[in-house]
Amino acid sequence: MSASTSPANRKILVTSALPYANGSLHLGHLLETIQTDIWVRFQKARGRQCFYVCADDTHGTAIMLKAEQLGISPEQLIAEVRAEHEADFAGFLIGFDHYHSTHSEENREYSERIYRAVRDKGLIKTKAITQAFDPEKQLFLADRYIKGSCPKCKAEDQYGDNCEACGATYSPMDLINPVSAISGATPVAKESTHYFFDLPACTDYLKQWTRAGHLQDEVANKLAEWLEGGLQPWDISRDAPYFGFEIPDAPGKYFYVWLDAPVGYMASFKHLCDTQFNDRNGFLFDSYWGADSTAELYHFIGKDIINFHALFWPALLHNAGFRTPTKVCAHGFLTVDGKKMSKSRGTFIRAQSYLRHLQPEYLRYYFAAKLGDGVDDIDLNLTDFVQRVNSDLVGKLVNIASRCAGFISKAGGLLSETLDHPDLWQRTVAAGPQIAALYEARQYGHAMREIMALADEANQYINDKAPWALAKQEGQQQAVIDICSQGLNLFRALMIYLQPVLPATAQKSAAFLNDSLTWDDVIQPLLAHRIDTFTPMMQRVEMKQVEAMLAEEKPAEPVAEKPAKADKKKAPAPAADDNALAPVIEFDDFAKIDLRVAKIVAAQHVEGADKLLQLTLDLGFEQRNVFAGIKSAYAPEQLVGRLTVMVANLAPRKMKFGMSEGMVIAAGPGGSDIFLLAPDSGAQPGMRVK
Ligand code: 2FM
Ligand code: ZN
Repeated sequence: MSASTSPANRKILVTSALPYANGSLHLGHLLETIQTDIWVRFQKARGRQCFYVCADDTHGTAIMLKAEQLGISPEQLIAEVRAEHEADFAGFLIGFDHYHSTHSEENREYSERIYRAVRDKGLIKTKAITQAFDPEKQLFLADRYIKGSCPKCKAEDQYGDNCEACGATYSPMDLINPVSAISGATPVAKESTHYFFDLPACTDYLKQWTRAGHLQDEVANKLAEWLEGGLQPWDISRDAPYFGFEIPDAPGKYFYVWLDAPVGYMASFKHLCDTQFNDRNGFLFDSYWGADSTAELYHFIGKDIINFHALFWPALLHNAGFRTPTKVCAHGFLTVDGKKMSKSRGTFIRAQSYLRHLQPEYLRYYFAAKLGDGVDDIDLNLTDFVQRVNSDLVGKLVNIASRCAGFISKAGGLLSETLDHPDLWQRTVAAGPQIAALYEARQYGHAMREIMALADEANQYINDKAPWALAKQEGQQQAVIDICSQGLNLFRALMIYLQPVLPATAQKSAAFLNDSLTWDDVIQPLLAHRIDTFTPMMQRVEMKQVEAMLAEEKPAEPVAEKPAKADKKKAPAPAADDNALAPVIEFDDFAKIDLRVAKIVAAQHVEGADKLLQLTLDLGFEQRNVFAGIKSAYAPEQLVGRLTVMVANLAPRKMKFGMSEGMVIAAGPGGSDIFLLAPDSGAQPGMRVK
């Protein structure tokens, strides 16, 4: 490990991609900022000097036109949007050290500095190019602002570079009857001089940089294809009128928004250094951005903007005499219930709508539970979301504290002097280094599974000891205190591990436990320690809250929508032949099935049903009503009190006789030969079956 990465003195600057300043944030943005914020909070918890900066991305034609449409200045628009974005991010507990704007003096300064440096190295070229021009608006038109009929299939109302009907690609000037989508005027071809960054000259440098451990392997492989195919010069100028920074030596020419956007990372950090650290001589800034910086620089981004961050950006920084990123961490897109977010389905969920109905930590935990270090898309399955939050956070985590706290308070609020189960304590603290390594590697899903397995053990211990039963017996008061002290110590350790994900619950826990929840102190249990009053920490989430959020996002008038690609590829129905296997599923699909031990606490016949029994299944943290087709093999009274295995995350199904909230696992040829799966005798309701 080099000096810069030895744990004790790591200095880390972290960024998330800058949201555009022309619209509201949605849950796709939050996937990224939550992923980043968890990583930053983890680094801070480990005692590193770590800063997290971001900003609004304010320049470009879209923002200029939107302001015009609203009848306000671009400056007014970006100020309003910035206030909204900052409030939304705060609502999701995103702890930026500074949130800035690319329309700032710092950004102008560093954009110009970088431009001058690469120009002086001979890396800026000019070339006259011909583009579509709106003669009414006196504006060059990007492809998306031109519409017309496809030159190939003649489909009407197609955008400037490709046809959605036949898939043809073409130049906007080839469209039949092209019109400007802004004014309706017919565009004309017009020539102007553009400024280009000589990216091909950086090919050798980029071939080496992209293979030097700064990128995920799948990203480096994709870039290798592009690098082999040959890079093109990058057009970094746009003609007036344009909302942005004028190029210093080129009046009427402006930096393309993507030139100054990543410079916004530097600008935001510069502002932080100047205003919060009084960094007049620039030492702090240079220690992070100087060419020989030993600090680490991490950019969290979506996979759609990899070329900007892993080609253009390092090439610019390197040639302008700045350091390059330590790591560019790309993530996948967010889908909702397996599909691309959709306005007509109400699944294009804005940050504000979510916050009006649901707690931020539910989503933080859900994303954490699903995130890995790769670029796979992440699905927000809303039924699974409700079940997982209730099962893991409310049913397991908070349940430990709520079952133990009352007994300690009643006995005066003092924890025991010794631990009742030192082995279990040791196992819990021994997991700390592995959990830390998983956070560091951005394998949050794995970390959450480890933490929840520890929570299962803690709950198991409390179930076995049943302090509520002991409390009713004479002379067992100390035993009850010992059990609950052990339980609260386990809860504390779990909260230390979960604080990057659940900062608000961690804060409430710290107050109640009267402890700072410091990561490095996890090995020291709280003994003979006074705790404070316990207040409920987290409510169960109800499906109706989710439905209210979706209803808010659903447009009043149905919007005609093309079927999503995935719909066209529906799996064929299983063949009637019993030996024919159902379509093959991937391991990832199989891994989605949450199998749990359940106790059958009630069973009865269903009036009017030949095959069904109605079962009440207890998962330890909640009960489910399930209709099971096992009447030919079991009488209800044979089942009550037995343990079985159920699919706990199956979406509830409305049946003729009522709602079925899961499925029990049974096998056999049928008739009286149907065998309900029985876990071994040590199993407890709610346990995961692996
Ligand atoms: O794709 C986007 O939303 C851009 N606004 C991201 C910019 S990230 C950085 F480079 F500024
Ligand atoms: Zn076409």
